[in-house]
Amino acid sequence: MSKTKTSWVCQNCGVESSKWIGRCTSCGEWNTYVEEIVRKDTSGKITNYFSIGTAKPITLQEITYLEEARIDTQSSELNRILGGGMVPGSILLLGGEPGIGKSTLALQIALGLKEVKTLYITGEESNQQIKLRASRIKSNHENCFILTETSLENSLTQIKNTQAGFVIVDSIQTMFTENISSSPGSISQIRECTARLLRFAKETSVSVLLIGHITKEGNLAGPKALEHIVDVVLQFEGDKNHMYRILRATKNRFGSTSELGIYEMRNSGLREVHNPSELLISHIDENLSGVSISATIDGVRPFLIETQALVSSAVYGTPQRSSTGFDLRRLNMLLAVLEKRAGFKLVAKDVFLNIAGGIKVNDPAIDLAVISAILSSNIDIPINKRMCFAGEVGLSGEIRPVNRIEQRIREAEKFGLSEMCISKYNRKGIDFSKFNIKIHFQSRIEDLIKNIFK
Ligand code: TYD
Ligand code: MG
Repeated sequence: MSKTKTSWVCQNCGVESSKWIGRCTSCGEWNTYVEEIVRKDTSGKITNYFSIGTAKPITLQEITYLEEARIDTQSSELNRILGGGMVPGSILLLGGEPGIGKSTLALQIALGLKEVKTLYITGEESNQQIKLRASRIKSNHENCFILTETSLENSLTQIKNTQAGFVIVDSIQTMFTENISSSPGSISQIRECTARLLRFAKETSVSVLLIGHITKEGNLAGPKALEHIVDVVLQFEGDKNHMYRILRATKNRFGSTSELGIYEMRNSGLREVHNPSELLISHIDENLSGVSISATIDGVRPFLIETQALVSSAVYGTPQRSSTGFDLRRLNMLLAVLEKRAGFKLVAKDVFLNIAGGIKVNDPAIDLAVISAILSSNIDIPINKRMCFAGEVGLSGEIRPVNRIEQRIREAEKFGLSEMCISKYNRKGIDFSKFNIKIHFQSRIEDLIKNIFK
């Protein structure tokens, strides 16, 4: 058998070289050379335009759709994210920062699959470490096999021998194939290993879950380059110092990408959180200033979240602004709006903002809660604990409507809140009499101040 030929190709301009070069001699870009497998035509010249392939085009009517039997992962959160369970023969990529809990989640999935034989291939940890983790999770069953291996060829042989129906590769960065000489973790190794696993998965209907690391910058030459190859990309995110983790699908060929699952990292593994609002709101009896509740939506899932603000006199010349879980630039923008439209002199004040639970919120509907928390802390008057906010704040101080307002109101109602503050422009076409919650319609932040802090 002839050895696979490889060559180095500039990813910017496509120039080939027999060895690695730091700076491309053709386009001048740095660090763009990547080793690739060369697949050359043996004849060397084109003799016939027409190939002897057998595939023929057909119309859509001729294609019969078979509803694929999905594998039940025994986890309602994961099933929902995947669009009703795992599709046999699909290839999934689970990405996340180191230490976030990817291996824990993967092991829990493997141990949860009761009917399917699973093989957990790890190149990162020893059998002992996996055993220790499994004992923490307090789960075990005889259909889950562990293999400590980094060679792709041996892994494929073992998958075949064990006749596993579900395979986990932890992590794709540690896998290597003998066909390429570059070291494990390099982009060409990762791409080739994934392509081989993909072919294997499609041919044998074995589902494969790949674990991939993402660095702080999020641009490691691994997961990002794989996203177009795999069927499903799952992102596991959260603040390592907090216990909440969010699992979301950023790509899904078999379902929607707007679902998300919330998990809590405990001493005994990850636990699904079915009612996040219960956990994200602190149940403090006293009325404290600088705390407000917002009804946010992530994807299609509504939940209530607590915003805390602290406004104090600046000790140094330049006031500090700090925020956790909320975009700092947006906070500065909201402060500028408050200053200009509501006459609050925040220039000489330090402002600290914190979203409870270490969760990052991108929903603009949280603006109103942020503004309310800041104002409440500034004048040291608490906001009614049974009050909730949902509205975006515009540059001229107007309160703008937000999407899915009924869902948000229902979530607030479910949680037992009694008042809700929303934009006046959300009024159109909705019958608010069906809600048992008192709704304040506001159009400008000046009105908000009059109504909330009266
Ligand atoms: P791990 O799954 O190893 O993360 P990753 O594979 O993404 O690098 O787990 C990360 C952290 O989770 C680790 O610091 C310890 C913590 N952990 C718990 O808090 N409880 C548990 O039951 C387990 C297994 C881990
Ligand atoms: Mg790990």
